Amino acid sequence: VWESFKPKLGRSNLRTKSQLLPQASSFKVAVLGAAGGIGQPLSLLIKMCPLVSAVHLYDVANVKGVAADLSHCNTPSQSLGFTGESELANSLKDVDVVVIPAGVPRRSGMTRDDLFNVNANIVKTLVEAVADNAPDAFIHIISNPVNSTVPLAAEVLKQKGVYDPKKLFGVTTLDVVRANTFVAQKKNLKLIDVDVPVVGGHAGITILPLLSKTRPSVTFTDEEAEELTVRIQNAGTEVVEAKAGAGSATLSMAYAAARFVESSLRALDGDGDVYECSFVQSDITELPFFASRVKLGRKGVEAVISSDLQGLTNYEAKALDALKPELKASIEKGMAFVHKRM
Ligand code: NAI
Repeated sequence: VWESFKPKLGRSNLRTKSQLLPQASSFKVAVLGAAGGIGQPLSLLIKMCPLVSAVHLYDVANVKGVAADLSHCNTPSQSLGFTGESELANSLKDVDVVVIPAGVPRRSGMTRDDLFNVNANIVKTLVEAVADNAPDAFIHIISNPVNSTVPLAAEVLKQKGVYDPKKLFGVTTLDVVRANTFVAQKKNLKLIDVDVPVVGGHAGITILPLLSKTRPSVTFTDEEAEELTVRIQNAGTEVVEAKAGAGSATLSMAYAAARFVESSLRALDGDGDVYECSFVQSDITELPFFASRVKLGRKGVEAVISSDLQGLTNYEAKALDALKPELKASIEKGMAFVHKRM
């Protein structure tokens, strides 16, 4: 996010509008749940992205003010507010990427799965609208439990006859962002250089950072690997407990989601070297959905990278075996939700 924003901000005061325009692309991004704890800072970061011409903010309430507030930022893109179901279709018109952070967050003592019943209905309704109004858009699902809401979304899109597995993403970028931060701190590395692939899913033990695949190459003792893995898996709970009743991660999540949006837009813009971890339809394990590094291109996922799963440490291999039954059950729960309601 900062890489692309910083130079543009620095230069924008010096350049005329016409000098800026030839560089800018014109992608439209919709944020569904834009008035929420994640939605607001995420919309701000998206409005700052030079690849964006318009950000559409949709929520069931309180969104007009957020859009008006954002519209005063002198970044080139427009921000438009859409409130309530009657405006949902319009919020999705001509958008290239739809980001969904709508739903309730965790409170202390809750697991992500405890959110399922409320958020499943919200995601179903929103994805139906995406299918009807923006069937070609990339869909980024943030609403938890991602391990279930993404398979649920896939079933909704199948029912609507518009499912493209290459364009449906569960946003797990925050796990990578956290892993990169914690590893850099632990090993005294320059943050910007560190990249840890995180595979599996996005809840508890299904979050599996592959520390042995960290770039730049770095070694960990067994104790360090275990301590870091457990911290990355529980980092969301760290924030939930620190916020003590006021919800879950919002700012770091907005940062991570904005990075994933920017990567998607770079891919849509023709950059041939864009890789991110995401929870997608996958055949690199026996599970139908799995988070791993993927190569992004103009049509979505160009390749699911399986090589990270080779040459795992014993600790990682055991953790991979251990996460599969839980992840499988969460995937099946998401799929079943759609079918039992038919
Ligand atoms: P929040 O409660 O602050 O905001 C949620 C927003 O969704 C509210 O503005 C609400 O009005 C809106 N909303 C509810 N029903 C809606 C509907 N039918 N259509 C459109 N908007 C609707 O919650 P917060 O903190 O922003 O979290 C949102 C979701 O993101 C939660 O499910 C949370 O668990 C998840 N999350 C995911 C993470 C990830 O790594 N994927 C990390 C952190 C949170």
